[in-house]
Amino acid sequence: MQVVILESAEEIGRHAADIILPGVVSGAISVLGVATGSSPLPVYRALQERWVPELTGLTVFALDEYVGLPPSHPESYHAVIDREVTKPLRLDPARVHVPDGNAADPPQAGPDYERKIAEAGGVDLQILGIGGTGHIGFNEPTSSLSSRTRVKTLTPETRRDNARFFPSPDDVPLHCVTQGLGTIMDARRVLLVAQGEGKAHAVAQAVEGPLSSMCPGSVLQLHPDATILLDEAAASELTLTDYYRFVFDNRPDWQR
Ligand code: F6R
Repeated sequence: MQVVILESAEEIGRHAADIILPGVVSGAISVLGVATGSSPLPVYRALQERWVPELTGLTVFALDEYVGLPPSHPESYHAVIDREVTKPLRLDPARVHVPDGNAADPPQAGPDYERKIAEAGGVDLQILGIGGTGHIGFNEPTSSLSSRTRVKTLTPETRRDNARFFPSPDDVPLHCVTQGLGTIMDARRVLLVAQGEGKAHAVAQAVEGPLSSMCPGSVLQLHPDATILLDEAAASELTLTDYYRFVFDNRPDWQR
């Protein structure tokens, strides 16, 4: 796991784009996993600012979707991905996939999504945020560390956190379809971004805490290629910050 502490959200966005764009241009990244929420927005802005034509060839998979919101609802993840990712990066909408939160048979939505990911050859790089509960995707505490895409119930804390996007807290859906932790772990590389003090505890648990389904993000400790981009506030509860900075400052040329 590589932990990089940067000065601002903008710098996180730039650093993420430095990782993603060469992969897209070289063809090493042809399937990109995207997250919704506030954390990855600086990444999408940086990609937009440094737009390259190869971005249009990407196949994209979102992590999750609310159950029961029509895709036309402005806060459905279909709509959010369309607004924040597909349009600004000029992607082909036919190649942008979001789990079906309105499936007639909700338990089938998970296996259907897994099949689409497999048919695309798997995710080359997955962008992640982390919730206050330690969730990645919407895998709330006690999610199986090997779970696959399925319907989950959001915790009251996550619903409160996401209430800022809705007219009233009661409007936040109770359920979602989310990629599982096993699904996320299948991505060849993962890039988690977090900003602000509100994420400090979850980040510390995920990076330095025990491997435990009580902090689903801790499963990334098992990923062979996980990069964690943090601002100072999100890094503030980590104990090895001096070491992470030392590693970053002394990274070999081939890692730059
Ligand atoms: C979103 C997702 C969630 C968010 C997390 C953090 O697709 O899967 O794990 O990344 O809830 O949300 P923000 O970035 O809004 O703090």
